[in-house]
Amino acid sequence: MHHLRIDTDRLLGRINTLGEIGRVNGPNGEWGNARIALSREDALGRDLVVSWMRDLGMSVAVDAIGNAVGTWPGSDPTAAPVMMGSHIDTVRTGGRFDGNLGVLAGLEVVEAVQQAELRPKRSLQVAFFTDEEGARFPPDMLGSLVYVGGLALEEALDASDSDGVRLGDELNAIGYAGSIPCPAAAFPHAFVELHIEQGPLLEDEQVTIGAVTGVQGISWTEIIVTGQSAHAGTTPMRLRRDPMVVAAQVVTEARAIARRMGGTQVATVGRLNAFPDLVNVVPSRVTFTVDLRNTDEDRLQQAEQALFAFAHRMAAEEGCDISMKPLARFEPVEFDARMIDLVEKTAQVLGHSVKRMPSGAGHDAQMLARVCPSAMIFVPSINGLSHNIAEDTAPADLAAGANVLLQTVLTLAHE
Ligand code: GLV
Ligand code: MN
Ligand code: MN
Repeated sequence: MHHLRIDTDRLLGRINTLGEIGRVNGPNGEWGNARIALSREDALGRDLVVSWMRDLGMSVAVDAIGNAVGTWPGSDPTAAPVMMGSHIDTVRTGGRFDGNLGVLAGLEVVEAVQQAELRPKRSLQVAFFTDEEGARFPPDMLGSLVYVGGLALEEALDASDSDGVRLGDELNAIGYAGSIPCPAAAFPHAFVELHIEQGPLLEDEQVTIGAVTGVQGISWTEIIVTGQSAHAGTTPMRLRRDPMVVAAQVVTEARAIARRMGGTQVATVGRLNAFPDLVNVVPSRVTFTVDLRNTDEDRLQQAEQALFAFAHRMAAEEGCDISMKPLARFEPVEFDARMIDLVEKTAQVLGHSVKRMPSGAGHDAQMLARVCPSAMIFVPSINGLSHNIAEDTAPADLAAGANVLLQTVLTLAHE
């Protein structure tokens, strides 16, 4: 293994500089980020990262869904590149590390390799993919999904947010509707994504590196329950058709199903809107989302069937109509066995404790895994927090992860 190491201060410097864009301050010194996909803040973040790529002498290509790929050429221009990357969009109450770490550690790897005057055989690429979070424009991992050919470009451009704003229009507005066709014409030799764990397992077990074995299945559904608006004071309980009551029952049943099933099953209702949303009006309509995940596809389907059947039953009992719209549905993904081994061995050789583990969150690497051997490296999240402005990771852990990324990529780039 090469003795080369990344520069931790330079990595932290880039994380904090990018973290100034869409910065959110919490009452206890928390430093989070709001850079929702294709917002003005996302555009400013993109411009900054692209400028850093250019500063490193990388050529930057932007594709038709706004994914940006910086390339630093290797000694053999005919060899497929090794790609690093992740995303720089965040949820509205996100942290500085989710996604950003994988992109900025990629730049740090390139800079470290350049400073050591190494020229690996394969080109090194750093990518940031559009709308990984999917919080504004579902599905999540939208950009990498289009990149690999899993979703037609036109369909992705037609995705709209909850205000009816079209993704394609926003992409044009921020100047990131690029000219490179989607799906990509050629795929990398391998893809490696460094990411924070976003959960408590590494911290609990005092392990520094997660060698990620795969990503659990993800099921997102929007449920609309329609009843009848009525006066809150005058309408007897027996005459009500109240969609809020149906929604409330589904929320608690989602929790009950996940508890009953145990294992990796989780269930979340993260968004709920009532119409007309007034104190003295029985709502006519309630719209909410359900996020179900499991590492096992059969069990995920069981959870979906149980919850959706329950929702239909409750709506019928209340005299309400119900409709369901899938927002995202991805089966569990297993990463390439050789890539998992490589991450694990690299971490061990660098002297880090390492644990094999599945990912609870969705990641661009799960889409890249469809087209090339892909791997993920996890580092611990303090208190297991993410999608929270208190999200944090110790500098030593960030450095450990970035060094595992560096050595993993160097191995792949010399193959
Ligand atoms: C997206 O990254 C998710 O896991 O929700
Ligand atoms: Mn992420
Ligand atoms: Mn995220």
